[in-house]
Amino acid sequence: MNRPQWSSQRMPDDRPNQTIPNPASIDETLALLRGAAYVAERSLATVLFLSLRLGRPLFLEGEAGVGKTEIAKVLAASLGRRLIRLQCYEGLDVAAAVYEWNYAAQMMAIRLAEAAGEHDKDRIEHDVFSQRYLIKRPLLQALEPAAGGPPVLLIDEIDRADEAFEAFLLEILSDFQVTIPEIGVIKADEPPIVVITSNRTREIHDALKRRCLYHWVGYPDAEREIAIVRAKAPQAPAHLTAELVAFVQAIRKQDLFKAPGVAETLDWASALTELDAVALDPAMVSDTLGVLLKYQDDISKIQGAKANELIEQVRGDMKQAAMK
Ligand SMILES: Nc1ncnc2c1ncn2[C@@H]1O[C@H](COP(=O)(O)OP(=O)(O)OP(=O)(O)O)[C@@H](O)[C@H]1O
Ligand SMILES: [Mg+2]
Repeated sequence: MNRPQWSSQRMPDDRPNQTIPNPASIDETLALLRGAAYVAERSLATVLFLSLRLGRPLFLEGEAGVGKTEIAKVLAASLGRRLIRLQCYEGLDVAAAVYEWNYAAQMMAIRLAEAAGEHDKDRIEHDVFSQRYLIKRPLLQALEPAAGGPPVLLIDEIDRADEAFEAFLLEILSDFQVTIPEIGVIKADEPPIVVITSNRTREIHDALKRRCLYHWVGYPDAEREIAIVRAKAPQAPAHLTAELVAFVQAIRKQDLFKAPGVAETLDWASALTELDAVALDPAMVSDTLGVLLKYQDDISKIQGAKANELIEQVRGDMKQAAMK
């Protein structure tokens, strides 16, 4: 079947038609991310650089709140690309992810055609199964050309979708094309930049992973987490930032049901700054633990004596580090 016309046409867009080039090295990738306030470890910048260079999807797996989704947002913003996001959920199907026909508009068009005396069935069918009545969902939108270069396609939290959906994604990720029986094959002129994230609530099939470059996004070390807080919550006093990050790093080592992610550290930095804190205070820590921990069992484990002990430990470690 013929390829539909729009796949080779530029879409109307008022952004300047200038493509920002992809980073030319790992250092440039780090700088690109940093310029958008994302503090990445070198291994992430390396795999991202390679994924852009080789045109392969990037598969990011990791705990909640460690900056997986943010990578796609930052990439789109700093490369001047459109961000197309597909949020996955149980029961996600082709109609919600790729396309569906606008049945109401089709019905109306058929009635109007008949009222106007059109009785040629083939012609009516040809008309109502045209692009005009096609509702494009994120995966199809990502195959369309766009000013400024191919978009960033974020397939977020793929572990929430059913396995059947993964199988379907394989066609799109290997050939960047979609087959619509009534229209034909729609193929991207230039493949989108694809970022897939998973919280690993279940394993993703090898066949899908094999098409991607994989990176596990772990919790940052203290130095990087301080840099993240400085970039994202610069209003927090420097001493408070160092203490609260050390505290968060310490509670991640405790036996908790759900350890805090970077998102929680940033929230806590903002919360403590709002409360005019300049250093960690045992009572304030216990009263604000709900910003960091979201399970009552975890809060009661840390609140009170344990929190005080951790604050002492953090202060001791920081003193020792300062003396070195
Ligand atoms: N390395 C980083 N540099 C700057 N900001 C970061 C970094 N990591 C995380 N953040 C910030 O932490 C917050 C959470 O990030 P994000 O939503 O990307 O996490 P996630 O891994 O997608 O979490 P979830 O699995 O819950 O969706 C965002 O506000 C993001 O800006
Ligand atoms: Mg996310």
